[in-house]
Amino acid sequence: MSEPTPSSSPWRMARRAARLNPSVIREILKLTEQPGVLSLAGGLPAPDSFPVEAMREATTRVLAEQPQAALQYAASEGYGPLREWVAARLQAQGMKHVKAEQVLMTTGSQQGLDLVAKVMVDAGAPVAVETPTYLGALQAFTPFEPIFAGVASDGEGALPEAIARLPHDAPGTRFMYVLPNFQNPTGRLMPEARRQAVIAAARQAGVPLLEDNPYGDLWFDEEPPTALAARWPEGVTYMGSFSKVLAPGLRLGYVVAPPDLAPKLLQAKQAADLHTPGFNQRIVYEVVKDGFLDRHIPTIRSRYKAQRDVMAEALQREMPAGTEWTKPGGGMFFWVRLPAGCRALDLLPQAVAEGVAFVPGEPFYAQQPDPRTLRLSYVTLTPDEIRQAVAALGRVVRRQLEDTLQKGTP
Ligand SMILES: Cc1ncc(COP(=O)(O)O)c(C=O)c1O
Repeated sequence: MSEPTPSSSPWRMARRAARLNPSVIREILKLTEQPGVLSLAGGLPAPDSFPVEAMREATTRVLAEQPQAALQYAASEGYGPLREWVAARLQAQGMKHVKAEQVLMTTGSQQGLDLVAKVMVDAGAPVAVETPTYLGALQAFTPFEPIFAGVASDGEGALPEAIARLPHDAPGTRFMYVLPNFQNPTGRLMPEARRQAVIAAARQAGVPLLEDNPYGDLWFDEEPPTALAARWPEGVTYMGSFSKVLAPGLRLGYVVAPPDLAPKLLQAKQAADLHTPGFNQRIVYEVVKDGFLDRHIPTIRSRYKAQRDVMAEALQREMPAGTEWTKPGGGMFFWVRLPAGCRALDLLPQAVAEGVAFVPGEPFYAQQPDPRTLRLSYVTLTPDEIRQAVAALGRVVRRQLEDTLQKGTP
């Protein structure tokens, strides 16, 4: 019997299937996963930071004290005590308006991106994003067939004047996706004055905001200013996550939506997965309920800060003149712009051959990518490995610059 050919397959896929996971990323990830390669490419937190013992104790307690409830189906909104805890924590961080009933527990904040897009985006509707932006958000929004409006941005985030122009440039924009704290991929922080200006421009333009904040607790030097959601509660949907402060394998995040949006998000959540695992939610509640995070997060901060400092020194030492970067004040990433004449995507195979991997910046742009950019994560390698990896990167960039010079092309 012969194998069925693709054309004889009985499965006819939806148009959106063609948009899932662009192949360029798949190829990049394959390259970066080769053995022996020091990877600065991952977006993963440091596994040594996972609080294994606290999780073990909490799991034992949940199974001993509430096994049947923990293993049963549960409410789509999430586990009540954890929702209360999230609301209290956000209130303490300045989001005074947040009530527990508004907190929707999600299967990672990645699910929040999917649910918001499902509820908000029709095919052909504009969705505004920062330039560049989190690749996973572009992937989550893309199947709903939006037209992306890339909002011009600088080292402080989206430019307020570009937001103000949205009604003209992208009329009917459904929402703008923003990452004010240690953005993935650039590591940038939106300062207080820019937050005020962004909110004023978005209000004026009538464009609601989707604020994503997985990295806000991971500050090294100075605590970030108050969330955008605190400044315009009815116009900002806020998302948080336990992935970077506890562990991503829990798949636990949350969305705080204004009353206009919350019921529809809940219905979308019911249709997607009924609820986020109640078992995980109860374990996390046991871990966090007595102030554990206030002791744990500072240990992650000091570890990441030391790694950030090592990478900053290594970049200074190893990268050729004309390379640009800003030392991030928190989070997990450096964003690097290579000298003129370099294209990060072309450089990647040579870098892997030299034993180092990174993520080229191009896929993080909704429109008009800057081919000279790349993202480096500093949290999963040891200081020595970071030094080696950046030295290898420096060699590869210098070589490409020399080749370009020899060919006489700019
Ligand atoms: C900006 C941003 N948003 C959302 C996510 C998804 O996080 P999770 O689904 O683990 O909460 C990530 C993961 O790296 C991220 O960087």
